[in-house]
Amino acid sequence: MTISFKNKVAIITGAGNGLGRAHALELAKRGAKVVVNDLGGARDGSGHSSQASEDVVALIKANGGEAISHGANVANFDEVQDMVDTAIARWGRIDVLINNAGILRDKSFSKMSLDDFKLVMDVHVMGSVNCTKAVWDIMKEQNYGRVVMTTSSSGMYGNFGQSNYGAAKMALIGLMNTLVLEGAKNNIRINAIAPTAGTRMTEDLMPEQIAQILSPEAVTAGLLTLCDDDAPNRTILCAGAGGYATANMFETEGVFLAIDEQSPEAVRAKWLEVTNQDKQAALDAGVKQSEKFVKKAMAAL
Ligand code: NAI
Repeated sequence: MTISFKNKVAIITGAGNGLGRAHALELAKRGAKVVVNDLGGARDGSGHSSQASEDVVALIKANGGEAISHGANVANFDEVQDMVDTAIARWGRIDVLINNAGILRDKSFSKMSLDDFKLVMDVHVMGSVNCTKAVWDIMKEQNYGRVVMTTSSSGMYGNFGQSNYGAAKMALIGLMNTLVLEGAKNNIRINAIAPTAGTRMTEDLMPEQIAQILSPEAVTAGLLTLCDDDAPNRTILCAGAGGYATANMFETEGVFLAIDEQSPEAVRAKWLEVTNQDKQAALDAGVKQSEKFVKKAMAAL
């Protein structure tokens, strides 16, 4: 069945370039009224301009779609609130939020300034928090909401020189995991995309031919499945170059040691069992971990 966004209102942050631009164009093509947000700065977050987002709006309108641009810096809650108020004044609801805006300040950890660490956390983590916070009660009242976090393999698996970026990207998975629990009764679903694409963010990291294979549009095809009526919930979709996969977190069954056996030596001695993945399972809430361990401790009493 065709995935449609007719009568839906979507905010896409960082939509002046790269992935956000591709997401905005495709959502608009499929009927969404779109807020094209972009601060319009450089890759490292310096400067600002409305040119890129206005160009995307013009393109959407030329294709017969509806869109407005907004230059909110996602790291600034007041500006984000103004963007959300503007969208509500214009269209009366917000169905979809794509937290996509991002910057890079790469350096090995020993050379990285704390300012560069904090700025990256601010844009990716607080940017996504601010935008989600500003739409959250609206989505709750509507009993409908679809939110996508943009995470990264750098966060899930690590990448040399990206301690700030990796920490920020993994924080978004933590944000998603709790919001999924809090939004469930109001039909709010939250998912994450872990993209790989040839954009200005990655332009000096890969040859031109590879960048072309890694088209933003291939990521967008996956992203749209995370934010329509039939979207999953709590999925981390990895997408790039036409490849689609999910990333998952599991916990091993582990071992149980009685009170008089609990020592670092005993844990080390059982290491093969502690790390044995045969019976590993996904836990759907933090409390399930305590329950698992306490159940075994109680059974041994
Ligand atoms: P890009 O640099 O082409 O686009 C990012 C956009 O975000 C820019 O237009 C920029 O002006 C905007 N932006 C930056 N800071 C902002 C702020 N404070 N407020 C509002 N807008 C702001 O980069 P790309 O590749 O399209 O990245 C999009 C997202 O995907 C980012 O979150 C990035 O971390 C993530 N990502 C990208 C990967 C890739 O392979 N390109 C890999 C993994 C994650």
